[in-house]
This record gives sequence, structure tokens and C-alpha cells, in this order.
Amino acid sequence: MTKPAILVARAIFPETLARLAVHFELTTNDADQVWSKPELVERLRGKAGALTTGSERIDAEVVAASPGLRVVANMAVGYNNFDVDALTRAGVLATNTPDVLTETTADFGFALLMATARRITESERYLRRGEWNKWRYDMFTGPDVNGATLGILGMGRIGQAIARRGAHGFGMPVIYHNRSRLDAASEAACKARYVDKDTLFREADHVVLVLPYSASSHHAVGAAELALMKPTATLVNVARGGIVDDAALAQALREGRIAAAGLDVFEGEPQVHPDLLALKNVVLTPHIASASTPTRRAMAELAADNLIDFFTLGRARTPLNPQVLDRGGR
Ligand code: GLV
Repeated sequence: MTKPAILVARAIFPETLARLAVHFELTTNDADQVWSKPELVERLRGKAGALTTGSERIDAEVVAASPGLRVVANMAVGYNNFDVDALTRAGVLATNTPDVLTETTADFGFALLMATARRITESERYLRRGEWNKWRYDMFTGPDVNGATLGILGMGRIGQAIARRGAHGFGMPVIYHNRSRLDAASEAACKARYVDKDTLFREADHVVLVLPYSASSHHAVGAAELALMKPTATLVNVARGGIVDDAALAQALREGRIAAAGLDVFEGEPQVHPDLLALKNVVLTPHIASASTPTRRAMAELAADNLIDFFTLGRARTPLNPQVLDRGGR
């Protein structure tokens, strides 16, 4: 029997590729190029499935141009690169990689919060420049993390994991805002209090963004929200670029309207707004919140499991549009 043809759109762990190769005829991207849409469409020709990352946009046009495509498995929990409605209409199954990255991403969110509030990278750059010649009482002072109010916008799995770290590890009162309020048991587990969005920005000493990106969360944090924040407050984004208006944030940081920001994601990444690059009071990392080795392996394996289960068992472990399976697919 011929094996289904699968496109693996970016470089992934060789062990995962070897496992996929048992089940599929693979086309890989060993050079790890980020393809344009026409290049992607060209490579999807004749493929029954694809393993993608956040850098491949799978929209109605791509789906229409790939009539044999039956499943796309994203190696990411976020799936704003998929037009899930278009995939569902076309009968293409979409999957993502939730859960396996929750704790690792929460670790990083907290690390970024610590680095931002305690000025870790700014002070390291100062030291490396050879400028450190004496101790001084107010050198690189900033806000406290312990005991400060942690505000979380987007209280899904990762938001709750960050809340638990803050509440239980650092004695932080936690407030949150989310599309829907958590049940009482989940609120109690992370000692979190539900507030409206404005109250979150007004009261939090440290705001962490963990909400999914969509048209409705585009620029959820812009000049108006930043204006509500305390001048001593910090903002951390481990969610997606585009949730923050980066130009407005750069202006707020430049004018000292908030103390500092920590950003792992950017509008138009891997480009970074030049105004952010010029600022001292921002910690910038290249979209690595889930990047522990075990977690990246688990993400790749889960994406592979979704493809293997789909073709061998007619189901998937973490489907985004399971109704496609009920309808029998494409
Ligand atoms: C990373 O950004 C992810 O969505 O997994």
C-alpha cells in the first residue's frame, strides 16, 4: 500500500522525522526555509497532510489550492496561522499541541517577568560594557515581584500556570481577566480574583499577556490600556505579536509611562519594531517561551501523533475542529 504523502514544512527533530517516515512518504524542509505562500502551495501539491509551525499560514486560498489535503498538524498551541473556519468548511482536520508546553511556557513567562522587573538584561549589558566600577544604593533598583499584584490577561492553561507560580511561589495577589470567568475551584487553585479589563490594567503591578491572538484580540493592549497602568508597572507578552500595539508600547516605555516590558513575541516577527530595540527598559527574546528541549520534543511528537492517528485510526489526539472527523473528513 502506498504511504500517504506528508509535507513537514520546517526542520524538526530527526527522531520525529524517522518515526513519521515509517508511516508516510515525507517531503521535508531540511534547509529550514520559511516559504512564501506560493512556495508553500507548490510543496503541498499532492500532499494528504502537513506538519506546520506558526510560520505557515493555512487559509482558504491554500486549502482550495491543495485539494488532496486532509489534515494539518501545527507544532504550536497557538493556531492563529490557521483559518480554522475555512479548514472546517473544506473538511480538513486541524490539530495543535496544547498541554505539553503549559508548564514550560509558564516558567518562561515568569522568567521574563523576573528579568523585566529586576532589570536582569539591562544590568548585564551595563556590566559587559565595563561600566560597573562601584556599588551604589539605587543601582538598577526596580519594582518588587514578591508580594506585588500579578495581573493576567487570558486565563487559559498557561495563564493559570503563571498564576499558580505567582500566588504560591511569590505570595502575589493575582487578578485576571478572561473572556469567561473560571469556575470557583480553578480560581481557588491559583488564588485568582476576576476583574474587568480596565481594573486589571489599573491595579496590577505586573501584567502578563497569555491570550490567544485573533481579530478580537488585535491590539488588545494599546495606548489606552497602557495609560491605565501604574508608572511602576511592567508588561510581559508571551502570547502573540499583534496583541500589543508595539509602537504605542515603545512610546509608553520611552516616556516612562510604565516602568518596563518583557516581550517574547512581536508584531511582524522576526522583525522587531526599531523603537523597541533602541530602549533600555525592555527585555526582548526571540519567541522561545516553549523552548525547553523536552517540551519542544513533546510538541513535535504530539504533532506527529496527530498525523499518525489520523491516517491509521481515523482520529486525532488534539483536534481543533473534531466535527470534521464526525463528518468523515474530506
Ligand atoms: C508558540 O508560540 C505556540 O503557540 O506554541
